[in-house]
Amino acid sequence: MARRCGRATSRFTPCPGEMETLSGWLCCSLLLVAAAQAGLYTASDQIVILSPADVEAVLWNSSAATVVEFYASWCGHCIAFSPVFKGLARDIKEWKPAVELAAINCAAEENRKVCTSYGIRGYPTLKFFNAYTKAGGNGTKHNETFSLDFPRDIRGLRHKIIDQLENHAEPWPPACPPLEPTSQAEIDSFFETNNVRHLALIFEEARSYVGRELTLDLLQFENIAVRRVLNTEEALVSKLGVTTFPSCYLYYPGGNFTRLKVKAEARAFYSYALQRLPGVVRSGKPAPVSPDVLNNNTEEVWRPFNRSRVYMADLESTLHYSLRVEVAAHTVIRGEALISLRNYIAALAKYFPGRPVVMNLLKSVNSWLQNQTGSEISYEAFEGVLDNAAQSPDAALPEGQRWVGCQGSRPHLRRYPCGVWTLFHVLTVQAKNAGGSDPQEVLSAMRSYVHVFFGCRLCAEHFENMARESLTEVSTLSSAVLWLWSRHNQVNNRLAGDLSEDPNFPKIQWPSPEMCPACHTAKTNGDHLWNKEKVLAFLLSHFAANSIVKDYLEDEGQILAKQKEKHAVRQERKAREASDLMTPPASPPAVDEKQEEEEEEGEELQEEEEEGGEGAVAPDEMVGKTTEPGPWAKPEVEAGRRRRQAHRKPSIVGMRMRDFREDIVDLDSFVNQYYKAKAMQLAASSRVRPRTLQRKEEQESGPVFGLDIRLDVVQPEKWLQKRELTGGYFSEEASHRGRWMSVLSIGFSKVDISLCVILYVLSSLCLLTMYLFFKNRFKPRRVKIFLPYTNEYSN
Ligand SMILES: Cc1cc2nc3c(=O)[nH]c(=O)nc-3n(C[C@H](O)[C@H](O)[C@H](O)COP(=O)(O)OP(=O)(O)OC[C@H]3O[C@@H](n4cnc5c(N)ncnc54)[C@H](O)[C@@H]3O)c2cc1C
Ligand SMILES: *[C@@H]1O[C@H](CO)[C@@H](O)[C@H](O)[C@H]1NC(C)=O
Ligand SMILES: *[C@@H]1O[C@H](CO)[C@@H](O)[C@H](O)[C@H]1NC(C)=O
Ligand SMILES: *[C@@H]1O[C@H](CO)[C@@H](O)[C@H](O)[C@H]1NC(C)=O
Repeated sequence: MARRCGRATSRFTPCPGEMETLSGWLCCSLLLVAAAQAGLYTASDQIVILSPADVEAVLWNSSAATVVEFYASWCGHCIAFSPVFKGLARDIKEWKPAVELAAINCAAEENRKVCTSYGIRGYPTLKFFNAYTKAGGNGTKHNETFSLDFPRDIRGLRHKIIDQLENHAEPWPPACPPLEPTSQAEIDSFFETNNVRHLALIFEEARSYVGRELTLDLLQFENIAVRRVLNTEEALVSKLGVTTFPSCYLYYPGGNFTRLKVKAEARAFYSYALQRLPGVVRSGKPAPVSPDVLNNNTEEVWRPFNRSRVYMADLESTLHYSLRVEVAAHTVIRGEALISLRNYIAALAKYFPGRPVVMNLLKSVNSWLQNQTGSEISYEAFEGVLDNAAQSPDAALPEGQRWVGCQGSRPHLRRYPCGVWTLFHVLTVQAKNAGGSDPQEVLSAMRSYVHVFFGCRLCAEHFENMARESLTEVSTLSSAVLWLWSRHNQVNNRLAGDLSEDPNFPKIQWPSPEMCPACHTAKTNGDHLWNKEKVLAFLLSHFAANSIVKDYLEDEGQILAKQKEKHAVRQERKAREASDLMTPPASPPAVDEKQEEEEEEGEELQEEEEEGGEGAVAPDEMVGKTTEPGPWAKPEVEAGRRRRQAHRKPSIVGMRMRDFREDIVDLDSFVNQYYKAKAMQLAASSRVRPRTLQRKEEQESGPVFGLDIRLDVVQPEKWLQKRELTGGYFSEEASHRGRWMSVLSIGFSKVDISLCVILYVLSSLCLLTMYLFFKNRFKPRRVKIFLPYTNEYSN
C-alpha cells in the first residue's frame, strides 16, 4: 500500500483519471491531505519533517541535539530562508548523530497546537533542543537568542550550532566528540588511551571554527580522531614547527608527524583528505574490498578500468537495461508514458554519441515512434523495432550488460543507476557541444523518463522534487550541464554513508580535488567554493564524445550476427504458429492433450528456473534506504526474463501501480476458455485419463475452479500464455500457487473486479452446468461438439 502511494505521489497529476479502485481512492485522499499541508521541505532535504504524531518522539529524549525550524509556509521570510536551511542540512550532514535538523510548518492547521505549545509567535523561529531534552521541555534556556536573532547564512548557523554544543548541559550527546582545544599533555598520552590510527591536529586561532567543524565532520569515521590545537599552545606549535593557522598535521605514536597536504587550508579540503586516509572508514560500514579479491571473484570477471574515464560499454548497457527491461514493464505505453518515451528516444537519437550501428538503430526507433499516430503502442511492437525485426542493415542495440566504469564491488551496488547518471551527463554535454536549441530539452526528457520509467521509485520521487524546485532556473545549455552536475552532487551528499554506497566508490562531491584541482577554491573565510567555469570546462571534456573509452565493447559483427539469429528464431516461431493455424484439428483430444502436456512440461521447467532467479530479484526494490539489490541488480536473470516478456512483466512491476486497463478481463474469452476447460475435463473423464494429466491433477490440492478464476482475473498476461499453450489448463496452476499468493499481496485493488467476474462466471457456470446436464442426458455421445473450441484456442 505504502509503495503504491509512493508511486502515485510521484505522478505529475496526483489523482489520475482512472480511480477505479478502492486503494486508488485511498492513495488519492492521502495525497490530498499531504497536499493540504505542503510545506517548504520534502523528504529529499535531509530535514526531519515534524508532525504532531512524531514531535515528541523526535525532540524528547533524543540522543542527538536537534535544531528545529518553526515556520509558516506562506511567510516570505520563511520561503527566503528555506534554501539556507536546506543548504545547512547538506553542509552538516555528517554531524547527524550529534545534531539533527527538523522543521515544522505552523501554517498547517494540525500543527498549530504544537507550535503554540512551544510558544512560537513569529516565523521563522529556530530552537535548539539539547540531547535528552525531557518531556515538555520547551527547548533549552540558553536558546533564547537563538530563537530571536539567528544568522541567516549557512556558515553563521553552523557556528551557532557549535556554540550551542559547547555549552551543552549534561548529558552530552554521546555521538559528539570533545570540542575543546587539546594540550601537549593530552597528546602525549593520546595513543595510550585511544585506539585510532590517525590523530589529526588542527592548529588554529581561538576564534576559528575549522577544528571543531572537522571534529564533527569526521565523527562517523573510524580510525581517525581530530583535535584542535590553539596557536597559544606554544609547546606543540614549536615542536611541530607550525607557522600557518589554520593548518593540519597528522600525528603518530612515538611523536612522528606530517603535515596534511591540501590545495587550500580550509575545512572542505581537510575533510576530504582526512576521510581518504588509509584505514579510515565509516563506522559500521563494510570495508572496501581489495582489487585482488575483486579479481578473484569467480562470479564475474572484474574489468580493470580508469576511474576518471567514461566508458561506452556502460552507456550501451544502460540503454539495453532501460529500453529492454524498464520500458518493458509497460506492456502498453500510452499517455504520459508515451510522450515520455518519445522525448527520451528523440534525445537519444539526437545526442547519444554511439557507434554507427547503435545510432542507426536509435534513429530508426525514433522515426518509428514519431510516426505512431495512435494514442498508444504496445511494448511488443516497440520491442520489434528495438530488435530491428525489419532487419535494416547495420542497426542494432547490443543485448546484455557489461559494466566497466559502473562495476560495483558487490552485485547489488552501482551498475544501472550509475549508468543512468552517466548517460544523462553525456547527453547534456552532447546537447551543449552540438548547440541544441532548447536548453531544457535533454533535462526534461530525462526528468520524465525517470518519473515514468525509472524502477527506483523513491529515487524518482527525490529527483522530481529537485526538478520541481529548480529546473526552471536552467536557461542555457551550459546551465543545463551544471544543473545536472550540482543535483547529482546533492544526491551524492544525501547518499554518502548510505547502505547503497559502494565502499570502493564512496560518494563524494564530484569531481574530487585530485581529478580537477582547478574546480575547487576556498573563499577568504575558508568556505569551499566551486569554480563553476572550471567545473563546466571539466564536465564538457570529461563527458565529451571523443573522451569516451571504447574498451570492452562487443564486436559489431557479433552483435549483428546475434540479432540475425534472434530474428531467424522469431521468424521460425511465427511460421510454426502460422502452420499450426492451418492444420485442421483432426486428432482426438486425448492425443492433443498428451502432446501439449509434454510441451508444457518443458516450458514449466524453464519457468521454474527463471522463477528461482526472479525470486532473488523480486523483493529487492530500492525502497527507502535499503540497499539490498535494486531492480537493476541481477543481470543474469534478465535474459530469462526477456524471453517471457510477451507473457509476463519483469519483476520491477511489483514496484508500480499496474495499469488498470490491463486488468480488465475479456469476459467472453474468459468464459469461452473456461467452458472449453470444462468440456475437456468432461471429455477426459469419459474415458481413461492420460497419465500425465492424472498426475498433475493429483498435485492440485485446491479447488481447480477457484484458483483458475482468480489467477486469470489478476494475471491477464498469464492468460495470454495459456491461450498459446492449449490444454493443460488445470496442470498449469499447480506450479503457480506461489504466484497466486503474491497476487494476493498486490493488494485489494482487484477485489472488486474479481468479485464481479466471479459472480459473472458463477452465473454462467450455472447455466452451463444445466446446459451440459441436459445435453448429456439426451445425447450422451455429444462430446465431440466441444472440439471446435479446442481448435479455436490451439492457435
Ligand atoms: C535520477 C537518479 C536518482 C537517484 N536517487 C537515489 C535515491 O534517492 N536514493 C538512492 O539510494 N539512490 C538513488 N540513485 C542511485 C544513486 O544516485 C547512485 O546512482 C547509485 O548509488 C550508484 O552510485 P555510484 O557510486 O555508482 O555513483 P553515481 O552517483 O551513480 O555516479 C556515477 C558516476 O558519475 C560520476 N559522478 C559522480 N558525481 C557526479 C556529478 N555530480 N556530476 C557528474 N558526474 C558525477 C562519477 O564518475 C560516478 O562514478 C539515483 C539514481 C538516479 C539516476
Ligand atoms: C531516554 O533514553 C534512554 C536511553 O536512550 C533511556 O534509558 C531512558 O529511559 C529514556 N527516558 C525516557 C524518559 O524516556
Ligand atoms: C587470487 O588468486 C591468486 C591466484 O589465483 C592467488 O594467488 C591470490 O592469493 C588470490 N587472492 C585472494 C585475495 O584470494
Ligand atoms: C586515467 O585517465 C586520466 C584522464 O584521462 C589520465 O590522466 C590517467 O593517466 C589515466 N590513468 C591510467 C592509469 O591510465
